[in-house]
Amino acid sequence: MRIKRRPWADELYAENQDLFRKFPYDLRGKWHEVFKNNQPIELEIGAGKGGFITQLAQNNPNKNYIALEINEMALAYLLRKQAEKRLTNLFLVVGNADEVGQYFAEGEVSNLYLNFSDPWPKSKHEKRRLTAPNFLRKYHQILATDATIQFKTDNQGLFIYSITTMANEPEVLIDKINFDLHHSDDNVGNIRTEYEQKFADKGQPIYLLKSHFKEEKNERI
Ligand SMILES: C[S@@+](CC[C@H](N)C(=O)[O-])C[C@H]1O[C@@H](n2cnc3c(N)ncnc32)[C@H](O)[C@@H]1O
Repeated sequence: MRIKRRPWADELYAENQDLFRKFPYDLRGKWHEVFKNNQPIELEIGAGKGGFITQLAQNNPNKNYIALEINEMALAYLLRKQAEKRLTNLFLVVGNADEVGQYFAEGEVSNLYLNFSDPWPKSKHEKRRLTAPNFLRKYHQILATDATIQFKTDNQGLFIYSITTMANEPEVLIDKINFDLHHSDDNVGNIRTEYEQKFADKGQPIYLLKSHFKEEKNERI
């Protein structure tokens, strides 16, 4: 996502330091202290402008939500929303998915959302895809038993890749594959992201994949 840096963003970050953290290595295993309760913590990686997670947090005050985004300017749009709403169960993180294991302790995250992740179509960039085996390994470490991974995309290539990758991982169980989310029963309660809305407006199908890890963690993944 290419977003021009705007002066208002710097001011917003300076004025709202209680609402976000950059690269929160020191909060690993301590997120309940940030939220000041023991509610389950759900994570969206690549939250972009954050319409999805804001709505999710509003709908579920009994859960905590963390929006992780590498692009500070994209996250500034979410920070702007959060600075107005000040949802006590939503926290913003500037960080890299590659480092999730350094931000979260084992089992600290109870559900993971990947929405419209960058497709990285060239095979030499496979390791950057957020559903590549190297990332699944990291997710397995931070996810609690029974946690789900919910992945939505408009990109058929990335969707097929993600299904294949997960199907090939003995530790992953696929729960749902849907090739047309918006015209199915799964659409009930579906919260659209900014990208999802754009693609839906163009009449493109939206794909949904849900999975979880088997209970035991072993060394392979
Ligand atoms: C195509 S956008 C989708 C944004 C939003 N999820 C939506 O559906 O509207 C993908 C987002 O993932 C972020 N992203 C890509 N790689 C990332 C990484 N390694 N760690 C964290 N965020 C990442 C990008 O900066 C971008 O904002």
